[in-house]
Amino acid sequence: MGHLESGFRMRFGPRSSGQITSAFEAIVSKTHFYRPVYQTFQKFGPRQGRRRHKGKGSVIKDRHDVYELMAELKAPAHLIEHVQLVWEAGAVLLKKCRQLGLDLDYSLVELGIAVHDLGKTVYTDELSGPGTRHEEEGQKILLFRGVSAELARVCVSHGQWERMACSTEELLVALSDKLWKGQRVEALELQVVDRVCGLLNADRWDLFTELDSCFEHIAADGQERLNKSVGT
Ligand SMILES: [Fe+2]
Repeated sequence: MGHLESGFRMRFGPRSSGQITSAFEAIVSKTHFYRPVYQTFQKFGPRQGRRRHKGKGSVIKDRHDVYELMAELKAPAHLIEHVQLVWEAGAVLLKKCRQLGLDLDYSLVELGIAVHDLGKTVYTDELSGPGTRHEEEGQKILLFRGVSAELARVCVSHGQWERMACSTEELLVALSDKLWKGQRVEALELQVVDRVCGLLNADRWDLFTELDSCFEHIAADGQERLNKSVGT
C-alpha cells in the first residue's frame, strides 16, 4: 500500500476490521483521483461482515489459535486453563442461545472468552489478585496483532460491563466469566435476560425462569471447576 493510500485510509478508512465508513466510500468512489484506492478496497478490503474477527494479518480463526497465541506470549498454563474453564460455561450458555434461536455472533462470544484475560500475560500479578491493567493491555496486544477492534474490546468490556454500552455478545462473555466459578451476579444476569427477551420480542418474565435455571445449572459446577483451577 502506497504512502498516499495508507494516509487516506487512516483518515477515512475503516475504524475497525469489517467496516468501511460511509464517508470514505462516498468520497473515494466519486473522486477520479482516488478511484484506484476505492477499487483496491472493493477488491481486497476487509468488508466481510461482522462475523470476521481475525483481522488483517491475524492468524486467529478459532479459540485454539488463541490458546496458541497465549502459549507464544508465555502465558502460564493455569491462565490457558482458566479461559478453557470459562469456555465450558460459555458453551452451555451458547447452546441455550442456539436453542432459543437467537441471532448472535456466536464466534465473537467464543473468541471473546478465549481472549478476555490475554493482558494477564503481561500483568501477571493480576492472575491471582485484583487489578484492571490487564484489560487495556489485552486489547492493545490484539489490535497490534491485527485482530478486529470488536473482538479486542472484549478484553476491556468483560471487566467494565457495568460502565460500558456492551453488545449482547460482550455481556455473554462477562457472564461466562462469572458463572464458570459459580458466581451469580444478578445485575448482569438481568441484563442478559432482557437482551435475550428483546431479541425474541418477549417479556422478561416469559423467559426468566428458563434462563435462570440455565445460569444455575452452569453455576452448580462452579466449585468443581474452581478445584481444577489455580487463581484467576
Ligand atoms: Fe477471566
